[in-house]
Amino acid sequence: MRVFNKASCIVKPSDCTWSGKLVLSELDQTGVTTHVPTIYFYNQTPEDWLTVLKSLKSSLACTLVHFYPLAGRLSLVDGGRLEIDCNASGAQFIEAYADIKLTDLDSLLPSPLYHQLIPSIDYQNVPLEEIPLLLLQVTRFICGGLCIGLNISHVAADGQSALHFVSEWARTCRGELLESTPYLDRKVLRAGDPPRTSSVVIEDEQFGPPPILIDQNGQNERHNETAVTMLKLTATQVEKLRNEANLSHKSEIIRGFTRYEAITAHIWRTSCKARNHKPEQPTALAISIDVRNKMRPPLPQKYFGNAIVNGIGTGCSGEIVSKPLGYVSSIIRGAIEKVDDEYVNSAIDFLKNQDDLSQFRELVPTSNDDEGPFYGNPNLGVISWLTLPIYGADFGWGKEIHMGPGTHESDGSSLILHDKDEDGSLVVALCLQVRHMQDFKKLFYQDVDTNDGIIN
Ligand code: COA
Repeated sequence: MRVFNKASCIVKPSDCTWSGKLVLSELDQTGVTTHVPTIYFYNQTPEDWLTVLKSLKSSLACTLVHFYPLAGRLSLVDGGRLEIDCNASGAQFIEAYADIKLTDLDSLLPSPLYHQLIPSIDYQNVPLEEIPLLLLQVTRFICGGLCIGLNISHVAADGQSALHFVSEWARTCRGELLESTPYLDRKVLRAGDPPRTSSVVIEDEQFGPPPILIDQNGQNERHNETAVTMLKLTATQVEKLRNEANLSHKSEIIRGFTRYEAITAHIWRTSCKARNHKPEQPTALAISIDVRNKMRPPLPQKYFGNAIVNGIGTGCSGEIVSKPLGYVSSIIRGAIEKVDDEYVNSAIDFLKNQDDLSQFRELVPTSNDDEGPFYGNPNLGVISWLTLPIYGADFGWGKEIHMGPGTHESDGSSLILHDKDEDGSLVVALCLQVRHMQDFKKLFYQDVDTNDGIIN
């Protein structure tokens, strides 16, 4: 595939917006602070290409009036802290043409081709203050189909907020009124407040460095080549996993395990096996937890920003591999349940007290990428998209034929999402080091597909 004739412009809000520095919550500035890529594919549109481009641009300009932080730029301030300068600098809009039909693509799933369809960001060479927080590319295929590749700054928006924006942009493009305005004041997550004195102590596991390989010999696992794969689990396989988790831990749980808990336990266990850890190898699992409804009072509806806190499950590879799936699921349940209002506020207080916040960024756009916590081998991060409204972005020419994550190249980073078929099957999008991938795939299915329904 060749993608050519790329033309780029900046789309600014179509009306005046508030200008000034938006003080960010500590949760916006820690964890993943790079852009997050997603992609939407559509069949042929009824309108001609120029009309499509015009409506996408004008509706984007209108939507940015309400979501104006996305039109701003980041600035780095004292203490490694970030702010959004709401200066209406705009979003980058690229239009491009591909010399193939959509049906010529082997699949619409993540592949190196995505690099040509989703705008990339050169964090090393472009000053932070000049990088748009929203970049997108609309690519037309020769069959008349198109795709929209988005890259949205995680400092500006978490998954819920990014999807809210896309949904309102699509609605505006269809000629409808906004359904709900974003709640932009991040002070509800105590942005700008001093730390409280009476906070509970957050253990090392939340903010201390995650485990490293015990036999690493100084070798840095961060720089090993990675690959991405999408692994489907049928509804039957999902229920097999859930049943196995519940059966093996019946006496100790009050409510049965969720699909997320059972599947994540399975992914964690499989990764320990595929990475061939020693039994005594410590391993940590990072769980992105949406805390909107965990806060007291809950955050306002449509809070726009980051309301995600990492829950951390820990164990030794030997126990993760050999103990029943229900045991591993219960570690995950424990890590999720621990994160309540008090825990979140304590995490915020801990971060407020830090002299340099940049050390708590997982993928650091502003400095050496050897810094920051690493959730690759021997660790893992599993994000759930199961409750996010990821499908159904209709810009006026019907719903997408495929929506999914862009390529992510960070070892150990994975996502669980619904399959588009809506038959109860799920997909695990996973990034691992190339040298572990083949074993992972084999073990992942070997342990699910047993004839008697018992998972090994
Ligand atoms: N719509 C449909 N189902 C919902 C739902 C919703 N809005 N909210 C919850 N549920 C269902 C879940 O699917 C789950 O059902 P299952 O047992 O059949 O799988 C059940 O209710 C419990 O859900 P939840 O309490 O969310 O637990 P979980 O184990 O599925 O997920 C977390 C745990 C921590 C992953 C989840 O609560 C969470 O915070 N997700 C974050 C999502 C997110 O924002 N991701 C993007 C990060 S940038």
